[in-house]
Amino acid sequence: MLGGAKAFPGGLPFARPYTPPLERVTARLAPSYERGVLTNGPLVRELEECMAERLGVARTVAVASCTSGLMLVLRHLAPPGTSVLLPSFTFSASAHAPVWCGMTPVFTECRADTFQVDVDDLGTRLAGAGDPGAVVATHVFGAPCDVDPLQLLSRSTGVPLVFDAAHALGASRQGRLVGAFGDAEVFSLSPTKLVVGGEGGIVATNRQDVAEAVVLGRDYGNPGDYDCRFPGLNARMSELHAALALESLDLLDDHLERRQALARRYCELLAGVDGISVQVVGPGDVSTYKDFTIRVDDDFGVSRADVVAALAAEGIDTRCYFDPPVHVQQAYARLPGAILPVTDDLAGRVISLPMFARLAPDDATTVVEALASLGQQAEQVSARLSA
Ligand SMILES: Cc1ncc(COP(=O)(O)O)c(C=O)c1O
Repeated sequence: MLGGAKAFPGGLPFARPYTPPLERVTARLAPSYERGVLTNGPLVRELEECMAERLGVARTVAVASCTSGLMLVLRHLAPPGTSVLLPSFTFSASAHAPVWCGMTPVFTECRADTFQVDVDDLGTRLAGAGDPGAVVATHVFGAPCDVDPLQLLSRSTGVPLVFDAAHALGASRQGRLVGAFGDAEVFSLSPTKLVVGGEGGIVATNRQDVAEAVVLGRDYGNPGDYDCRFPGLNARMSELHAALALESLDLLDDHLERRQALARRYCELLAGVDGISVQVVGPGDVSTYKDFTIRVDDDFGVSRADVVAALAAEGIDTRCYFDPPVHVQQAYARLPGAILPVTDDLAGRVISLPMFARLAPDDATTVVEALASLGQQAEQVSARLSA
């Protein structure tokens, strides 16, 4: 931007799926394919068994997406017309799912350091909510949220607790794997996640009734006799998606290690950059680093928008997740305006940096060098951008 050579002349992507070799996927798929079983067959069953074992949970049910999994879980746990408390600093689908079930989202604050739902604020809003049906808490960017106080709150109020674990397959909280918390946790297998199925979702639960409701609900609500027990969805997972997900699951430990090594490098280097802080992951917690996200504070000297533009000029692709936060999105304009100053401020400051398994560690270093030099040349950068 200031006339020097571009850091990444060929561009540095933001994310890339860590896909297994194609021949392994086709070999895995072949028996089902050749028998003409294309959906909801033995590979889906195998994926469910492997996931349940990996997560240490009684049941997992494979579905077409995390969104459909959340819809089916919520439909079972809470009646239409109730309110669902959830953070606004999350992906839109966390709110869309309850809305499709006829529930009303009540948005709650997040914390400025961990970016996770603020449980005290949630508790206050829960006490004031007319007819609370459920709480949905997201493990933001793959770091576990404050599960213990949330579980206490759920137990003391009797309000079911669901985790949007879209980002968090492989994460753990104080040595306990994400997957068995609350009444259910729902993962995503879409391309930006650590375990990919192309598309797909996994509902994990220790409650047999929840698992059975999702099994029925992913197949229209039809138990097999075509006498549907409730209006379900087609949320089945295909054998093609399950074959890819099984092979991808085999890579999970290696994938986690690679992302954690990159995150360590980012954290170490960014510790020396004034005005930039990183998402705080609790001591003893393990994040998947589905995203590695920084916040740009005022003392950095360059605005978030200018940082994004300057990094783009270097060829570095970034994202501003979750901006706009859900409560200000057009889809939610009809709801009474939620007052969420921490969320509004955070959403205007975050940037997720490039993070993927095959990101070269030296490229992560170059990203931080580019950021650091922006801070050092703040005045020139802002002048160039405003010109
Ligand atoms: C936090 C969160 N929840 C839910 C979803 C929806 O997942 P899916 O695309 O599998 O429906 C996403 C998608 O990225 C997400 O980031």
